[in-house]
Amino acid sequence: MTLTAKSVSRVALVSSLVAAVAGAAVLLAAPASGAASTLAAAAEQSGRYFGTAVAANKLGDSTYVGILNREFDMVTAENEMKMDATEPNQGQFSFSNGDRILNQARNQGKRVRGHALAWHSQQPGWMQNMSGSALRSAMLNHVTQVASYYKGKVYAWDVVNEAFADGGGGGRRDSNLQRTGNDWIEAAFRAARSADPNAKLCYNDYNTDNWSNAKTQGVYNMVRDFKSRGVPIDCVGFQAHFNSGNPVPSNYHTTLGNFAALGVDVQITELDIEGSGSGQAQQFQGVTQACLAVARCTGITVWGIRDSDSWRSSGTPLLFDGSGNKKAAYTSVLNALNSGGTGTNPTTTTTTTTTTPGEQPGGCTATYSEGQKWSDRFNGNVTVSGTDNWVVTVTVSSPQKVIATWNTSPSWDSSGNVMTARPNGSGNSFGFTIQHNGNWSWPSLTCSVG
Ligand code: G3I
Repeated sequence: MTLTAKSVSRVALVSSLVAAVAGAAVLLAAPASGAASTLAAAAEQSGRYFGTAVAANKLGDSTYVGILNREFDMVTAENEMKMDATEPNQGQFSFSNGDRILNQARNQGKRVRGHALAWHSQQPGWMQNMSGSALRSAMLNHVTQVASYYKGKVYAWDVVNEAFADGGGGGRRDSNLQRTGNDWIEAAFRAARSADPNAKLCYNDYNTDNWSNAKTQGVYNMVRDFKSRGVPIDCVGFQAHFNSGNPVPSNYHTTLGNFAALGVDVQITELDIEGSGSGQAQQFQGVTQACLAVARCTGITVWGIRDSDSWRSSGTPLLFDGSGNKKAAYTSVLNALNSGGTGTNPTTTTTTTTTTPGEQPGGCTATYSEGQKWSDRFNGNVTVSGTDNWVVTVTVSSPQKVIATWNTSPSWDSSGNVMTARPNGSGNSFGFTIQHNGNWSWPSLTCSVG
């Protein structure tokens, strides 16, 4: 499929800029004027959401609520819908704090992602020491009661949270729930489906971002098994808690894509990345781009609003500083959301430029088509129309590097990020391989007549 300038609004915006730029050099990846100015609006352009975790005890903080209302269109209760909060005593349910978050969100037209129905952690005291069939029944009753109470009000539930072990085995985590039998997860999903048939039912975990991790493979195999046996699962959440010891993996896009290929939606559910400045911004950009590159990656949620709201605030892992100012990471996410993500398989993009009016009639068009992809690199192809005497610049985003070319003999600028391609007798198309180093964005193209 080739996207034309007429069918892609951001390309149209690029085209309108062209007339103002002598020599017609326009970067497709730069945020176009008129681009969405909030995270939610930018994500909605490709049919996705952008959410945050919310704590009930912060709903009186006007800075917090101001950012929440402005920037986000999906809300997850950080602690208030967990088992210890909603069933503090067996059979006695408490929804007041969960409801405060839910009502605040819904009054502002936001959706709510429920978190979490069954988990080995944050169990109420009475449940922690239970075992066997009594625990199984108590867990299923909890799932049924809570999902029934919120029926029709939540968009999705994290039905089961963090059930797989860390480390090399790829197996289940030991817990009192696991000891009730390996089928406890599917039992929880079936109970949730019966209670709220319209909520999306998700499995949610951490350290499942790297496709090479045994834990990732363990979850993948469970989801594949569930899909093959008709266990009701609709989505997989990737918590995405990153830091320098656990950076965003370069194969993130592969992980998301492989899960999506099982027939489930995937979502980034608790994103935070410790760090600061451009390094942090780049990693946030990489996660955003990985989601945008997968059609069934339907949304991203960050785990809190300001750094000071974070469960690990010393790592300053969020998009707003403690005063509520937008950080570089915010801008990188917003720009990435504004730059791409069609909601379908991203195969091509087009940029159209012309030469300065009067200088050379006609101008030219360079069309980019995505080629083969590997875990560390991807191919791109460019086809030029309008002239046989073209000059196409291909700009890649750091830390990407062009590591091979064909059908052109390019020259380079000093940064090594801008390649100038001209015909070399091989016709009007050429190609290249980009080592992505974690950045999956497509290159920017300009075309002018030589
Ligand atoms: O509310 C009490 C307060 O009254 C008390 O004085 C204080 C003393 O420690 O504790 C407060 O409760 C804390 C609660 O957060 C609210 O701030 C708990 O101790 C603390 O354990 C709890 O931490 C939460 C953590 O889950 C517990 O596992 C974090 O806020 C929450 O962000 C975090 O979220 C989890 C996700 O649910 C699942 N994925 C991992 C993620 C991060 O751990």
